[in-house]
Amino acid sequence: MREKTLSMEELVSLAKRRGFIFQASEIYGGISGFWDLGPYGVELANNIKQSWWKYFVYSNFNVVGLDTTIIQHSKLWKASGHVDTFVDPMVDCKSCKHRFRADHVAGINSANLAKLDKALKNKSCPNCGKVGTFTSPHHFNMMFKTYVGPIEDGANQTYLRPETAGGIFAQYELVRETTRKKLPFGIAQIGKAFRNEITPGDFIFRLREFIQMELEAFVHPKEADKWYKFWKEYCMNWLLDIGLKKEHLRLHDHRPEERAHYAAASTDIQYRYPFGFKELYGIANRTDYDLSVHQKESGKDLSYFDEETKEQFIPYIIEPSVGVERLLMALLLDGYDEEEVKGEKRIVMRFTKQLAPVKVAVLPLSKKPELSTLARNVFKKISGEYNVEYDETQSIGRRYRRQDEIGTPYCVTIDFESLEDKAVTVRERDSMKQERIKIEELKQHLLKELNH
Ligand code: GAP
Repeated sequence: MREKTLSMEELVSLAKRRGFIFQASEIYGGISGFWDLGPYGVELANNIKQSWWKYFVYSNFNVVGLDTTIIQHSKLWKASGHVDTFVDPMVDCKSCKHRFRADHVAGINSANLAKLDKALKNKSCPNCGKVGTFTSPHHFNMMFKTYVGPIEDGANQTYLRPETAGGIFAQYELVRETTRKKLPFGIAQIGKAFRNEITPGDFIFRLREFIQMELEAFVHPKEADKWYKFWKEYCMNWLLDIGLKKEHLRLHDHRPEERAHYAAASTDIQYRYPFGFKELYGIANRTDYDLSVHQKESGKDLSYFDEETKEQFIPYIIEPSVGVERLLMALLLDGYDEEEVKGEKRIVMRFTKQLAPVKVAVLPLSKKPELSTLARNVFKKISGEYNVEYDETQSIGRRYRRQDEIGTPYCVTIDFESLEDKAVTVRERDSMKQERIKIEELKQHLLKELNH
């Protein structure tokens, strides 16, 4: 089978045409860095989140979940270092007034302003093409500011969280106490994060509002390296499990200048997007940085007492963190396939059954009332446990093609014979094999196949 690689234009168009991703506020011309999940996008995202939760929370006896608020006390972001250091280097073109990420234009992976300034001297503006028109680069804080309550002054100012992790650190002690966990243990959270990116783009790769799935693993400092290695491998295995291709993934260990302000070591699992290998999943050893700064700022003791060794210390944190949209984009790219069937092109999204947005489509061969009635009864019998779609418009061939394009693993066709033999045809997406199944046995049959 020939592997077909989608270009960015093809991906954006397919994602819209098939109801995965729409530009936010599209009727008003869109808003840069914000994208909505369409009917199949939201199903895919929910299945990604569910799979992550099963793999990272339910499969580990020492990981628990948490859901903290998007808006936290401003002191939290001051303590975490985000107010002072969550910045990207920004540069303006004096000629056309456009703003850019200085490191992107300079083509160097560094936040050092002097280095960037030097590199920008002979670079041309990506917008107007002029050379030597850049201002000196300066830092831009990416947190969205907001006010709590009716008075818009500095005392009431806080931020939309730039990562979900902050809320986890603030509740670490309460979670530990209430669940009576001993080290090593983890706290997992899925939720929205917001970053006022200077140059959002590459479709849903760099967004201003996105969903993070983060695990904060609290460990003994001496075991930090061991758990860092463990979670790196664990994340990679999950990505392979949900259907990403091994050859499209690679590890990139960060040099010191690439690391976030809190990390002693960090690695990206990169995915091969149409614009090259770029970060998909970040794994960091955050050391005792977070609990130490929150202990200092809040005045609350966040140290851990090990009953066995009688040691008292601040735990280290190992953090695997991934964005749902970046992953969804990689899954659309890797799922996409084209093949020729009887001289015609067939497009198939080869999602795993677990991730497929629609699990089963119920398709009566014609709109005749007797077939519609039977088909609706079939829908009722099998629906409720997973996403089932009912579709009686257009020719059966076109409906199969539509389901193939959104990656539906099973199509159930109700034909005139079904009225006599009380059976339906079940077509499997990849092999296109068709099987006659008794309606009475259909629910069990599909459940077995979907869990296979
Ligand atoms: N708590 C650690 C943290 O936030 P990060 O590397 O800045 O680390 C983690 O972000 C993950 O979140 C990234 O690997 C990426 O998948 C996702 N992510 C970060 N910024 C994003 C953005 N602007 N748009 C979409 N996803 C983003």
